[in-house]
Amino acid sequence: MQDQINIMHAITLTLISTRLHVLTVCDGVSGSHTQRRYQLKNLSWKSMDTAVDGKESQGQEVAQEENPKSCELEYGSYCLWSVEHKEEMKDAIVKRLKDQLFMARAHYPSIAKLKHQERFTRELKQHIQEHERMLSDTIADADLPQFFAEKLEKMEGTIERIKSCEVGCSNVERKLRQLLDLTEDEAYFHTRQSAFLYHLGVQTMPKTHHCLSMRLTVEYFKSASPQRELLNKQKFEDPAFYHYVMFSRNVLAASTTINSTAMNSKDSGSIVFHVFTDTQNFYAMKHWFDRNSYLDANVHVTNIEDHNKLSKDVESLERQQLWPTEEFRVTFHNHSQPLRRQMKTEYISVFGHSHFLLPDLLPSLNRVVVLDDDMIVQKDLSSLWNLNMGDKVIGAVQFCGVRLGQLKAYVEENNFDADSCVWFSGLNVIELEKWRDLGITSLHDQSLQKDSSVSHRLEALPRGLLAFQDLIYPLKGSWVQSGLGYDYGISRIDIEKAATLHYNGVMKPWLDLAIHDYKSYWRKYMTNGERFMAECNIH
Ligand SMILES: *[C@@H]1O[C@H](CO)[C@@H](O)[C@H](O)[C@H]1NC(C)=O
Ligand SMILES: *[C@@H]1O[C@H](CO)[C@@H](O)[C@H](O)[C@H]1NC(C)=O
Ligand SMILES: *[C@@H]1O[C@H](CO)[C@@H](O)[C@H](O)[C@H]1NC(C)=O
Repeated sequence: MQDQINIMHAITLTLISTRLHVLTVCDGVSGSHTQRRYQLKNLSWKSMDTAVDGKESQGQEVAQEENPKSCELEYGSYCLWSVEHKEEMKDAIVKRLKDQLFMARAHYPSIAKLKHQERFTRELKQHIQEHERMLSDTIADADLPQFFAEKLEKMEGTIERIKSCEVGCSNVERKLRQLLDLTEDEAYFHTRQSAFLYHLGVQTMPKTHHCLSMRLTVEYFKSASPQRELLNKQKFEDPAFYHYVMFSRNVLAASTTINSTAMNSKDSGSIVFHVFTDTQNFYAMKHWFDRNSYLDANVHVTNIEDHNKLSKDVESLERQQLWPTEEFRVTFHNHSQPLRRQMKTEYISVFGHSHFLLPDLLPSLNRVVVLDDDMIVQKDLSSLWNLNMGDKVIGAVQFCGVRLGQLKAYVEENNFDADSCVWFSGLNVIELEKWRDLGITSLHDQSLQKDSSVSHRLEALPRGLLAFQDLIYPLKGSWVQSGLGYDYGISRIDIEKAATLHYNGVMKPWLDLAIHDYKSYWRKYMTNGERFMAECNIH
């Protein structure tokens, strides 16, 4: 065991849902740490209405300064986009030309390999050289030569051709996606250098999904909802039902996960889903789940901020917010491999801070199953309620490629087993009674308060892992097939026989960038024919 840890000299940890944090562990020394924060502006309902009905004004001008809420936004989220777009981009043409160059260079090697594309290859090469020449001594739009427009247009056409799959589509598409797998430093470099990755990033939270959320919210206030929930209130607290929990801001993802669970369960009427979301998404979620039904399953949407405001234990404003599952990209440098294969990447998903409120959020319940919103369920899961977990608190899939000892630069305590494996969120079985008895939440909170120098979100990894040390019941591998958000090499057979699929990684199934071969397993359970989806261009 010890050997294996020594082999990996450096681990780079990246919090992928924001891509704002970079941590490097080199032989136990912690490295750079960048962080940017944006303030979320309060959108009042009235102005949101205008933003939707008006000409898609993107909401930024309706922002008000009062009640500012810190919002560490996802790399590429709508909000980040709107904040950045308040400023006009300088030297936009130069940036655009650089984007083109970047794209063309990225595609060139795969095009050059194709048969019968010699002419196109030559053409592409020529365009690349011309762009390079033009940009070699130009940093500002004002310095561009007069013929830039012609070059820009030509290159545009060439790139269109590449993208339209006229030439060897799958190769090219794959190359483009690999760009997302750049290390954080590279990505940062490129976002500064050009607008390309920045725009690519914006696509990671498609505007269409934001539109959906807005439409649903407006509709919620316009129409009287059926209030189906009131009728089911008793069920929500009755331990005799199978209770599932999810923390989510993404209505479409949550809906798809829930639908897959209901469709594949032997008795959907015995299922209760508890969806916890934030103020910004609450009304959209509520309206959606009132409109849609999932066989006989019951869905209960809660605004976690409302709950936390009432709770005495949650004092700071920051803590009241929704902190859903966090994902970290871990890059290993395995120096015992040949140079080309030294880098290995895994995505580790861990509980966010909101998960630690579970015993309090569901006071009448004991066993619950927590699902992440990037999961698809393919089998009946009710046997998870019969699983004998002994005295363990949480059932989870373990990953022994990374061990706790390798994260020691981020952990204050010394009192832990350096050899213990990390585990994944995604599908977790939880014993809330034991959790309460052991006081895990308050231990976790204390450890959070001790050290505030590290970012709150970044802490989720070591803290979450430490909190459940020795309390993990390892779930069999057949319960979860993970990696569908980044690993191209998963076989159809493995996917089809798995009880659940986890799209951990950056290529979430609801994005354009999703891995093509894995999309259908998700789409199968996506609602179609919902009016708002058509209006928002979601197909
Ligand atoms: C936004 O501002 C309005 C008043 O301007 C206030 O009533 C409302 O509670 C605020 N909403 C949030 C989510 O802070
Ligand atoms: C690193 O490479 C060695 C040699 O190929 C291999 O035995 C080991 O399992 C690798 N470690 C990890 C964590 O992949
Ligand atoms: C659930 O999935 C089925 C297909 O498996 C689909 O026909 C149905 O529209 C989906 N329902 C919802 C509410 O998403």
